[in-house]
Amino acid sequence: MIDAQWIAARRAEFPFFTDSGQPPPAYLDNAATTLRPRVVATALARACTDLTGNVHRATHHWSEETTMAYEAARAAVARWLGAAEPAEVLFTRNATESLNWVATGWGQARGQPGARVLVTAQEHHSNLLPWRAALQRCGGACLVAGVQPDGRVDPDQWHAALAQQPQVVAFPLVSNVTGIVNPVAEWARAARAAGALVVLDAAQGLIHHPPLALAASDFDFVVGSGHKLFGPPGIGFLWARRAHLNWLPPPLLGGEMVATVTATTAQWSEPPWRFEAGTPNIIGALGFAAALDYLRGLDRDQRTNHLRALTQYAQTALAAEPGVRLVGARPESAGILAFTVEGIHPHDVAQFADAENVAIRAGRLCAQPYIEALGHESLCRASFQVYNDESDIQRLLVGIRRARAFFLAEHKP
Ligand SMILES: Cc1ncc(COP(=O)(O)O)c(C=O)c1O
Repeated sequence: MIDAQWIAARRAEFPFFTDSGQPPPAYLDNAATTLRPRVVATALARACTDLTGNVHRATHHWSEETTMAYEAARAAVARWLGAAEPAEVLFTRNATESLNWVATGWGQARGQPGARVLVTAQEHHSNLLPWRAALQRCGGACLVAGVQPDGRVDPDQWHAALAQQPQVVAFPLVSNVTGIVNPVAEWARAARAAGALVVLDAAQGLIHHPPLALAASDFDFVVGSGHKLFGPPGIGFLWARRAHLNWLPPPLLGGEMVATVTATTAQWSEPPWRFEAGTPNIIGALGFAAALDYLRGLDRDQRTNHLRALTQYAQTALAAEPGVRLVGARPESAGILAFTVEGIHPHDVAQFADAENVAIRAGRLCAQPYIEALGHESLCRASFQVYNDESDIQRLLVGIRRARAFFLAEHKP
């Protein structure tokens, strides 16, 4: 059920809506980045004004306060992920950087000629290119499990590739194109039983997912981005099981990641600091923790029900619209809907939507191989959050109708 009162209360929490005119903009690009609630903006402003001094450096009390706040943010992310200890959470810039750290580090420490990494044809480029580069450097091979016409990963192909005993198995929690939710717990169990390291790209869908409870999971590495979780851009995380932090090489060398340095040798600090050379994004980490607080404060069942109802409403409304074709839509999709409008390039559709004050994404969605496997060059994508309702979908439909009127009727020679 779509609860208008609940949505109105959510909108009141986001300056994007309260500071805009009427009707409010229809922000349907949440898979790219979510809006930031006022509590996050306030936490960011406070971090800027109230905290000074760098982390882990000085002995003066300002630096100590900043260090405590920064480490408290790490502990908050660790708690939210169900990690065994805060040291397993490394702050990065974003999910892309986290994946690069794992792939590059694995390649340096463990990559050998003939090594194999299994990914899926559903991957965002960020969970494909770093692996391909690491494998190229060590002389290994990338195994790719293909997708079925409905957009789901082909289970036979995936299991056949797993039988080739890859050293690493990486996959997305949710497709950023179709919103398909993958059976990641089942895949992780199978991959771990096959002796592989399991890497979960949780950049997409984590915001909708029940707690991951990582300590008891079969994952080895999990990545995510703060800006897809109501947080600010420029802060993300890499969760790694403690044992892996002993062999994963630090991605950057320099200040703060080192315990002792002599003229010719150096000894690294303990994790997590070993992995955070230089001054980290202190403000971003605090904003991220505030975003997780906000997220925790929203009733999970209500969020899930709202998302399901709105996604199904959007699927039904768009499927009934002349010229619109849904791509990979499923009832359990994680609030993402890919579609095309016959005879009109997705960029043009997005532009007509924008003219109606509706934000959607269009193009290759950083997942070109997947989109091509689905038989397209590019797609439109609408994605939903707690502040969206039916009126947003209706306005998207107005944009689509105007695009069709412009391109297909009036302007035909
Ligand atoms: C599935 C998936 N993986 C990785 C990323 C990369 O995230 P970021 O741009 O925050 O690094 C995205 C972003 O859209 C994504 O959807």
